[in-house]
Amino acid sequence: MKKIGIGLIGCGTVGSGLIRNLPKADALIGQRLGVQLEIKSIAVRDPAKSRDPLPTKPIQDWKKLIADPAVQIVVELVGGLDEAFQIAEATLHAKKPLVTANKALLAERGQELIPLAQKSGVPIYFEASVAGGIPVLKALREGLVANQLLGLHGIINGTSNYILSRMAEAGSDFATALQQAKDLGYAEADDRLDVDGVDAAHKAAILCFLAYGFLPKFSEIPIEGIRKIQSQDVGFASQLGYAIKLLAMIRPVGTDQIEVRVAPTLLPLRHPMASVHGAFNAVGLIGNLSGPVQFTGRGAGPDATSSALLADLAEAVKNLRDHSPGPALPKPSAKMKLIDRNASVGRFYVRIEVEDRPGVLAQVAGIFGTEKIGISSVLQPEGRGAGSVPLVFLLESAPASSLQRAVDLISKLPNTRAPATILRVEDLT
Ligand code: NAP
Ligand code: HSE
Repeated sequence: MKKIGIGLIGCGTVGSGLIRNLPKADALIGQRLGVQLEIKSIAVRDPAKSRDPLPTKPIQDWKKLIADPAVQIVVELVGGLDEAFQIAEATLHAKKPLVTANKALLAERGQELIPLAQKSGVPIYFEASVAGGIPVLKALREGLVANQLLGLHGIINGTSNYILSRMAEAGSDFATALQQAKDLGYAEADDRLDVDGVDAAHKAAILCFLAYGFLPKFSEIPIEGIRKIQSQDVGFASQLGYAIKLLAMIRPVGTDQIEVRVAPTLLPLRHPMASVHGAFNAVGLIGNLSGPVQFTGRGAGPDATSSALLADLAEAVKNLRDHSPGPALPKPSAKMKLIDRNASVGRFYVRIEVEDRPGVLAQVAGIFGTEKIGISSVLQPEGRGAGSVPLVFLLESAPASSLQRAVDLISKLPNTRAPATILRVEDLT
């Protein structure tokens, strides 16, 4: 059977998972494509580090790996931006297909990398960069290609979903749940990317690019993470009939603007995404022909990521075998832009810590009224004798700018004790 040589740059959590899973998948790929995958070279930062047995002795110099004539496809699993960009650039220059799981690279350096790939005519495969084992990029490129997409939303960071699930179901504290996510291989090498929403925003940018041909300027995407969520918010949300999830929203506004944001968001408990737990991800979208579609599956971890990497390798091998140019990347749209974050309109959950005195609730409600923000529900637990109580509001749809003005005014009231916690609410009807 014909053999295709693979060069693997990076052999940490994901790379070692790929090495473990490749022999199991190889027979299937051989049966289906008549080609065998063979890891010919591995490059790591520290070849002397002790590791599980590898198919070949690791080297340090990735340039040698790319130049090695036995390597026909390069897999980048180093992570980060600068070195990964150099690896990608050198791979394209060497006219070898690139497979990568690096969402940061695509979202933050895609403006340079995508034109390079298009100019070189060499394919980049990046299914593993979004939603782990869910083949959502392939679905956008192929199965849904005839649809105009009316919007996408998703739980696309496994680590934060794992942490929020542990807080809601097992009453875990944030730090313990994060450590478990790291031990299970879900978290990024720098776990701040997960908990601060940056990893989900990287994936949202990639989804936006595939769905609308528009790669937003990454620094302009509004991003909020899950650090501000307290267990009391999880409890109040549940009393109000909602679950809290780190949600990415991507939706066109008019003909030439797109809203892309990542924020902890209340979702109705009856919505299927509210029951997506642990490191599972979900991506929902509405196609003008398909109607609503939802994908759910394991969003992080070496096995789920191997599934996507192996699918990309199989596609790359097939394209090499057939002398096909591989998947075409969308032509970036010049006319699209992100909406101004203050122009965003939506519903909000607001928790304010106030002094337990008569008239305070009326004052706060009055400020929302002045800003023309309707109140759908209020929770005021009985005073706990500590002098301050949380006031929880679920608000009607309002511009983010009006909400911010109201919260600024509330923060200046003499009885307000702490900055407000503000979360998005999406009914996803
Ligand atoms: P990791 O555990 O930190 O592994 C990084 C690997 O890169 C290590 O083997 C390291 O070598 C090697 N490396 C670093 N600098 C290098 C250099 N200059 N030359 C050669 N090798 C170098 O990272 P990871 O968690 O596997 O993540 C890899 C990528 O997968 C990231 O882009 C991440 O975002 C993405 N990803 C992760 C998941 C997940 O579930 N964890 C899912 C999808 C995508 P040493 O071993 O010698 O240190
Ligand atoms: N750290 C990422 C997550 C890995 O938790 O979702 C999968 O991309």
